[in-house]
Amino acid sequence: METSAGDVLARAAEPGTLGTRTRAQLAGLCELYGIPPDSSGSVLTELLGSAARWPLQQQPPWHSDVADDATPVEFSVAFDGARRKVRVLGETIAEPPSAKANLRTAEQFVAELHSRGDVVLDKLRAVQDLFTPQEPRGAFAWWYSVILDPDGPPKFKVYFNPEVHGREAASELVEQALSRLGLPAVQSTLDKYALRRFDQDVVSFFAVDLDSGDQARVKIYVSHLDGSAQDAVRTAQAVPGLAHERIEEFCAALAPGTTVFGGRPLVSSYSFVDGDTSTPSNYSLYVPVRDYVPHDAVARERVLRALEPHGVGAAEVDRITAAVTNRSLHEAAGLLAHVSLRLSPESTGTTLYVSSEAYSSAT
Ligand code: TRP
Repeated sequence: METSAGDVLARAAEPGTLGTRTRAQLAGLCELYGIPPDSSGSVLTELLGSAARWPLQQQPPWHSDVADDATPVEFSVAFDGARRKVRVLGETIAEPPSAKANLRTAEQFVAELHSRGDVVLDKLRAVQDLFTPQEPRGAFAWWYSVILDPDGPPKFKVYFNPEVHGREAASELVEQALSRLGLPAVQSTLDKYALRRFDQDVVSFFAVDLDSGDQARVKIYVSHLDGSAQDAVRTAQAVPGLAHERIEEFCAALAPGTTVFGGRPLVSSYSFVDGDTSTPSNYSLYVPVRDYVPHDAVARERVLRALEPHGVGAAEVDRITAAVTNRSLHEAAGLLAHVSLRLSPESTGTTLYVSSEAYSSAT
């Protein structure tokens, strides 16, 4: 008998574990794009650590900031011309969880990947001690993303928290990390274009790719607290030759009428590849659409307005949401979490971030 993705989801929605629920969701997304589900399922289980065994009918024992409902996982689909990638952002959770124990588990996870030859650690090794205090502070210490595409093995990226030694130490930490990575001149790019509004523009993530080759990136994310599309445009000016009007159009499609993003902030990022010294190769904007809509049916309309000009249509967006949930989009906001726009002088891409809602839908 044939089983549809909906059946699998419905079964996985019965009280089970976070692992079974999120594996079913990821398998649904992978199926859309011809990505073999086996490797993605096992990597997700490993990434979650002890959280894979959490029973969904109990409160989560650790409140992850990866997603609003404490689920330590978030899915995304990256659209790049006709190419697609499915990605998972996740926090590795220890048993019992604590900031310190989760960080140890995150270190073990990457050591395990390395022992299998799945990652290259040059960039991580250059900076990891800076982001590994005895007593980690802030909302998280290390997060990972797993990037899946039909053409090759999974790729990984690690996100460090610049506030892991406390907020007051963050700018110094970022400066040191840039210098260790041979990118000391990036600090003045950040100061000039991204961190213009004193304590309202803050570096919120420092990420490095865990793969080899000249495409391994260093990524720096800046949150624009109470910021506007203009703050994003000014940040994007660090990369010459970008189509800045795309930024304004994107914000207007996702949050029409919003001038100041006073809820969750607009976030900008710069990517640096080998050979870049001060000018980023790429600028990305992340719009937290969920904070600016009454519910996901409105978010969907706006996502379509933002993505259709980039070649992503309603049928595809609807298949993506159907892979992760059966709920009505009118019920609540939060499923469509962020939408991002990637701009480089040569190309443009977009990404849709979709929440698991493993906890919000289980309650
Ligand atoms: N949940 C956090 C937030 O919304 C972190 C996060 C998850 C995030 N996915 C993201 C931040 C995508 C920016 C873009 O801030």
